[in-house]
Amino acid sequence: MLNLFEREKLELETLSQEQTAINVEHLDLWFGNKQVLDDVSMRIPKHQITAFIGQSGCGKSTLISSFNRMNDLIDGCRYRGSIEIDGRDINHPRENVARLRANVGMVFQRPNPFPMSIYDNVCYGLKLQGMNLRRALDDAVEQALRDAALWDEVKDRLFESANILSGGQQQRLVFARALALQPEILLLDEPTSALDPLTTLYIEELMINLKKRCTVVIVTHNMQQAARVSDYTAFINQGRLIEYADSDSLFTMPRKKQTEDYITGRYG
Ligand SMILES: Nc1ncnc2c1ncn2[C@@H]1O[C@H](COP(=O)(O)OP(=O)(O)OP(=O)(O)O)[C@@H](O)[C@H]1O
Ligand SMILES: [Mg+2]
Repeated sequence: MLNLFEREKLELETLSQEQTAINVEHLDLWFGNKQVLDDVSMRIPKHQITAFIGQSGCGKSTLISSFNRMNDLIDGCRYRGSIEIDGRDINHPRENVARLRANVGMVFQRPNPFPMSIYDNVCYGLKLQGMNLRRALDDAVEQALRDAALWDEVKDRLFESANILSGGQQQRLVFARALALQPEILLLDEPTSALDPLTTLYIEELMINLKKRCTVVIVTHNMQQAARVSDYTAFINQGRLIEYADSDSLFTMPRKKQTEDYITGRYG
């Protein structure tokens, strides 16, 4: 008999377009002459948390950054293969990159608040999109700060500089800035590696709550974190996708020796 747990797991290889947030097909990527991604194909499921793990330099940040075309900013970057979001090839010449980046938000390892007030940080993207009604902006800022579990700590000093916040608060501010745009996909590149354990738990809880609203992709070096928060995990080595499975299976019964060696700390 199938237990409930088993039934909830999606078959990653045969996800329908409906169930797929990001469809990567045969992606190769080079920086100059150096090949950094090698024939990566994967379907990332909607409304789930997918973790990318692997040794430093294996290509995790490069892969995640290709989902909202952040690699476009790097000279000498070339790629082959395709990435589809909502059935559209995001690298198509007519793709609106600003709209793509609003829809596919990103949070980096180090909090990067803009040098402006807390309020302006959160509504920066909304203003760029043309929202200028004070009332609407106020509401959006409050909602995003509540979603990022920061509202209570900053509601009395919204117009002070974001630089006065602690590191953990700044990281939640950056989350709020991304959430204000109501992205369908949120890319998180080691979002808690500079944070203390309590703030890390906060952010992990936030990620789990966010699943209702968006698809989350997280890069992490913390194996416990990957096992704790992610539904699916992809192990990458030297630019190749070695193993991709539901996190329970990958961490308890890896199919590949390389995965097992990595998760048990035999290399990396
Ligand atoms: N802008 C760049 N120009 C040239 N090479 C780059 C650039 N960014 C990354 N690389 C190279 O691409 C490879 C993959 O880097 P990437 O940052 O994706 O690794 P990572 O898995 O995220 O590592 P880490 O865990 O240390 O963050 C590395 O060899 C790196 O040196
Ligand atoms: Mg990285």
